Amino acid sequence: MLCLTLSHKTIDADLKEFWNNRPYIGLAELRIDCLDNLESDEIKDKIISFPSIVDVPVILTCRRKSDGGQFTMSEKKRLSIIKKCSEGAFSYVDIEEDSHWNEFEKELSNRGIEIIKSIHDFNGIPDNLFLKMNRMATKGFIPKVAVKVNGVKDLIFLFSAQEKLKDIKKKIIIGMGDYGVPVRILYKKIGCFTTFCSDNEVAPGMLSPRSLSELYRADRVNAQTHIFGIIGNPVMHTISPNIHNPGFHGIRFNAIYVPFLVDSVRYFFRLAEMLQIHGFSVTIPFKRDVIPYLGRNTREVTQICSCNTVIRERGMWKGINTDYYGFLSPIIPEFDNDKIKTALVIGAGGAARSIVWALRNHNCNVTILNRTLEHAKSLANETMSNYDILDNAYKYSGLSDIVVQTTSVGMEPNYLEDPVPSLNFSGKEIVYDLVYKPNLTKFLSRANEKKCKIVYGIDMLIAQGKLQFEAFSGYHYPPNVNPNF
Ligand code: ATR
Repeated sequence: MLCLTLSHKTIDADLKEFWNNRPYIGLAELRIDCLDNLESDEIKDKIISFPSIVDVPVILTCRRKSDGGQFTMSEKKRLSIIKKCSEGAFSYVDIEEDSHWNEFEKELSNRGIEIIKSIHDFNGIPDNLFLKMNRMATKGFIPKVAVKVNGVKDLIFLFSAQEKLKDIKKKIIIGMGDYGVPVRILYKKIGCFTTFCSDNEVAPGMLSPRSLSELYRADRVNAQTHIFGIIGNPVMHTISPNIHNPGFHGIRFNAIYVPFLVDSVRYFFRLAEMLQIHGFSVTIPFKRDVIPYLGRNTREVTQICSCNTVIRERGMWKGINTDYYGFLSPIIPEFDNDKIKTALVIGAGGAARSIVWALRNHNCNVTILNRTLEHAKSLANETMSNYDILDNAYKYSGLSDIVVQTTSVGMEPNYLEDPVPSLNFSGKEIVYDLVYKPNLTKFLSRANEKKCKIVYGIDMLIAQGKLQFEAFSGYHYPPNVNPNF
């Protein structure tokens, strides 16, 4: 079940967030350290009555500044406020591991209130973490750790709790920061009974209840759930979870697709073995780096030296490049009608590689224009294409059957930028922009005004995503599901 962390300055604001998120959660944490005028009797009374107003169990927490909270007064004061507020019908009280409030803890236990013993570390994973959790559990507490995850190696450690701490039935492990996001989403795979979420990022990497519940369906994960994901750096902006998760749900496939921020491909493959990951997408900067770890590749991966999809096939990792076919998908009928014989490609980076090869494999005469001539030259030599510097773009106006824009220029928030303002369109060419945010870029809008046939970046993105989906699940993307952006 998901736990909503409430950290507003007033109880009214907390209640508003609570009811907004009620459909997604089964537990709430009232962070009283964030409330204004905490010392006033009026506020204390409101805190005491809070659990009887809401219809889920509530955790009472008063977090110190040093543990990421707002409370700055003395420990004596903190104990007295928690003691008073715990008169309410709270189900749990959070007490830090180093606060030895034995008498109060005994009193809470006698009243049937469970104690969550918490450890926080905003820098990394402290020594002997599992040992400490075991000790806390032995004393009858629910151990909770919230630690900063600094890389995939740390993720491997936290996920090892699934096996190493399997005897602790009620525990909470939170991975803070972007590297820790998979721990938040896959909390049930580690054997945790809850994970924390909020509409405001109360702690680094925290997700909203709606996204955890509706997009990831994190609370429905069980031992049989197949794990898929995407690796990249950065990766949190990716919209691929919004393609695959609704698709899995649409075909009733017990699977989840999770973003993994990765600092080491080698460690990620270790993690993938450990979690029995069934397949994953690969984005910048790892499309080439994953190749040495693959047992098999499709022809395109070998030719392009770029792999954006990895699947587990007969105990082996297999690499696929769906960028290649995703790019071709919206324009295949034009090739069939022999309408594309010459192409102008803007950019010579990773995305351009798949595109130039796809065009060359369809007997297209390609010219690559790039800001840095050396990069254009190197890709052109490899693919037997022509090349020129981007500043000469005006010379190529109206000379190609298709113009493909592969750079990130024109992407939000810089949607007013045009990568090749000097290139004019004749109206006869197909104009394709890989940028998908905004849908109609400045570049495409110019082509549209000249009545060119235009192809949106989102078409390629969805086409490559649907091909990935087929590789992952063995099924077509459900036609009644709209990728949820
Ligand atoms: P990707 O994998 O998304 O293609 P990349 O490998 O970093 O990303 O390539 C980015 C491409 O966009 C390159 O061709 C880059 O030109 P350079 O080779 O000169 O770096 C091009 N690019 C990026 N910013 C640009 C800009 N402001 N103007 C023109 N081209 C740009």
